Amino acid sequence: MTELTQIGDISDSHGATAIARPTVYVYEAPVRLWHWVNAAAILVLIVTGYLIASPLPSLSGEASAHFQMGYIRFIHFTAGQIMAIGFLFRVYWGFVGNTHARQIFHVPVWRRSFWRGVLHEIRWYSFLEKSPKQYVGHNPLAQTAMFFLYTLTALFMIVTGFALYSEGEGAASWQHALFGWVFSIWPNSQEVHTLHHLGMWVLVTFIVVHIYAAIREDIMSRQSIISSMISGERQFRDGD
Ligand code: HEM
Ligand code: HEM
Repeated sequence: MTELTQIGDISDSHGATAIARPTVYVYEAPVRLWHWVNAAAILVLIVTGYLIASPLPSLSGEASAHFQMGYIRFIHFTAGQIMAIGFLFRVYWGFVGNTHARQIFHVPVWRRSFWRGVLHEIRWYSFLEKSPKQYVGHNPLAQTAMFFLYTLTALFMIVTGFALYSEGEGAASWQHALFGWVFSIWPNSQEVHTLHHLGMWVLVTFIVVHIYAAIREDIMSRQSIISSMISGERQFRDGD
């Protein structure tokens, strides 16, 4: 579980005292590794997915002399498999990791204090609160955004992505066996394409807000943020 390490007050020979900065180990190495590999895979998926939907101008010459769309699709499918395996691994880590590893998989809607926290964070992000609260893991608003905008959307992208992939692999493939049911809900493949495409924009929105919030909180909050996703440690800037 979490462990507080008191760095302690350090005085120099001039009598100046540094503030104690308690540190907690929050994001375990597998979560951090997954975060950055997953972020890279998703950026590749967004660029290649966009190009699948809006292809580059046609190349001249024989089709056999180049393989432009082929490469773009190949990179998309490779990044897709990496993202899917990463997701499965992240679910596994949700079970065996620390309590913070479970945060992105649920929202404690039944807890009043959670909703009070969400409201406080909305006011804080809207510049209506003077001082932020301290959280060891994700703050309640971040947790809500991560669950709805990231976890559910990522799952949706994997399911619809593999369903589309099964169209090329054929009815005898494992992709069809596992994800073919998607076409029972949306029998028209074009509709699945459109929803898969729409999911990309949900993720783009999440990423823009996510990076803004990470940088903003790194500057304005009372705790370390970006370095926590690198070292795993959350450092509190005041001893309160
Ligand atoms: C495709 C891009 C990205 C995606 C999809 C993404 C997604 C996520 C997710 C799902 C989490 C929760 C991690 C967990 O609890 O397992 C997270 C946390 C975090 N991400 Fe990202 N991320 C992306 C890019 C970035 C970038 C570029 C930065 C740096 C500016 C960043 C900084 C962070 C930080 C600091 C946290 C921890 C937040 C906290 O301390 O509460 N992320 N991200
Ligand atoms: C962050 C995740 C992902 C994003 C942002 C993304 C984005 C896109 C976009 C924008 C398209 C074009 C849709 C259209 O308008 O026709 C597309 C197509 C496709 N994606 Fe993804 N995708 C993601 C994950 C996946 C995954 C996990 C797979 C599974 C392997 C996958 C497989 C496919 C397939 C098979 C197509 C259709 C290719 C074609 O028709 O040529 N995608 N994707």
